[in-house]
Amino acid sequence: MKKMLKGLGAALCVALPFIAQAPADAATASATGAADQTLVQRGAYLAQLGDCAACHTAPKGKPFAGGLPMNTPMGRIYVTNITPDARTGIGGYTQADFARALREGIAKDGHNLYPAMPYPSYAKVDDDDVKALYAFFMHGVAPVQQANRESDIKWPLNMRWPLMFWNMAFLEKGAYRDKPGKDVAWNRGAYLVQGLGHCGSCHTPRGVAFQESALDESGSAFLSGALLDGWFASNLTGEHNTGLGRWSDEDLRTFLKTGANRHASAFGAMTSVINNSTQAMSDQDVAAVSTYLKSLPPVGGTGAAAYTYDPQATKVSLDRPANDAGARVYTAYCMHCHGVDGHGFAPMLAPLAGNPNVLAKDASSLINVTLNGTGDLVIDGVPSPFPMPGFAAVLDDQQIADVLSFVRAGWNNGAPAVGAAEVAKLRQSTQAGR
Ligand code: HEC
Ligand code: HEC
Ligand code: HEC
Repeated sequence: MKKMLKGLGAALCVALPFIAQAPADAATASATGAADQTLVQRGAYLAQLGDCAACHTAPKGKPFAGGLPMNTPMGRIYVTNITPDARTGIGGYTQADFARALREGIAKDGHNLYPAMPYPSYAKVDDDDVKALYAFFMHGVAPVQQANRESDIKWPLNMRWPLMFWNMAFLEKGAYRDKPGKDVAWNRGAYLVQGLGHCGSCHTPRGVAFQESALDESGSAFLSGALLDGWFASNLTGEHNTGLGRWSDEDLRTFLKTGANRHASAFGAMTSVINNSTQAMSDQDVAAVSTYLKSLPPVGGTGAAAYTYDPQATKVSLDRPANDAGARVYTAYCMHCHGVDGHGFAPMLAPLAGNPNVLAKDASSLINVTLNGTGDLVIDGVPSPFPMPGFAAVLDDQQIADVLSFVRAGWNNGAPAVGAAEVAKLRQSTQAGR
């Protein structure tokens, strides 16, 4: 089949100049063009599902020209140019070269890519989709001449050949295969979540060699929540407090399409996923993703009973905040938006009562969002009208620890307190990253 395509490609390259010269063949030429256009368009959609732009397009940079810095445990690397420029991009890649880079993490010249490129997930992408993606990157993206930047990783850690062994240990080759006994929607959802969507690259905890500790639902840690670069990517299993157990199928679809629902809203690393990827999903694909995620059995959590709303104790503290340091900060800085009742104005303004992010054991996301705020959720081209302001310049570490401890205990949330040292650590790492 590959051989045939290659042969077909070669034949087309030879044939095209003749077609251009022979008006009698014009109908054939435009029919080919139309077919290619459909393929390019499908590739563009798949590139959105794969969120290639989130990494390969730097803020204010040209589409897919690379340059974005990425922090890895070994040091900083820079995302590469994947426009079809022949010299600095992937213009010289054949479809087979492209497939190898995408699914096996090997560049055209044979060097191993760092797994910051989520090829362990893209390994599941099938041949038809690779073909469409290739057509898009060759014919739907403008070539940009922009040289790639060397990583800041120092010798000997910058040697790439050990990645060969990493791949031997952790890369599961072979496209996704439908699981028997599951329906079409479930299998489509599994294909998207495990493959192009690479949801696990953020949401699955990593092992000692920084590998995802499970690549599909056969491993119980799959999508059970993980800390990455200062954000805790939530538990997406059916766990009823910190996971999606209390979310209906519709809640989940609404979140993926609009970045917010009655339980929570997108912030931190999830914002660009919503902006560039999931909001573009067709209704059918978003339903498939939801079907699959809602089928994941509960993992993690604290063993506490399912959350029930109870505002009584919190209302008492907020009526007399003088004796409670956290309540004092909350009344002064948070209450006019998030409310005495902790409901906010969902979905526009996130609730804090019962929000899985607030209940999560790891408080990193809460600290990070309180320090640095949110602001760039863009749905259908319209930026969110009520971003959350950052409080890094207004509140000190102790005040942030106090208010978050208050929020985590409030409205029957029952989550553990936050310490000032944790806040200091994130303040330093997130400010240094700017
Ligand atoms: C999470 C970030 C991330 C996402 C998402 C991502 N990439 Fe990458 N990609 C990288 C990084 C980083 C590199 C360079 C790695 C290195 O230098 O070792 C890379 C390298 C590549 C390369 C090799 C090119 C070269 O010469 O280095 C190709 C091809 C590629 N990506 C295609 C894609 C496509 C297609 C998508 C979407 C389906 C995509 N990438 C999504 C981070 C990402
Ligand atoms: C670049 C990292 C990253 C990727 C990739 C990613 N997420 Fe997330 N996601 C996060 C972070 C961080 C959060 C926590 C902040 C928030 O709630 O928005 C989150 C939150 C969520 C939430 C809200 C959960 C809650 O309890 O509030 C859902 C649902 C979700 N992600 C689904 C997905 C799906 C589906 C995919 C794959 C298509 C995906 N994510 C890919 C980082 C990521
Ligand atoms: C001007 C209104 C406003 C104020 C003041 C405000 N917030 Fe927010 N907050 C928001 C909005 C809007 C969001 C959702 C933003 C998004 O996801 O894009 C949010 C989100 C959050 C979240 C993440 C929950 C989620 O699922 O999105 C936390 C935690 C939070 N706020 C805590 C606080 C704390 C603590 C304070 C006081 C120190 C505070 N907020 C003050 C508007 C506000």
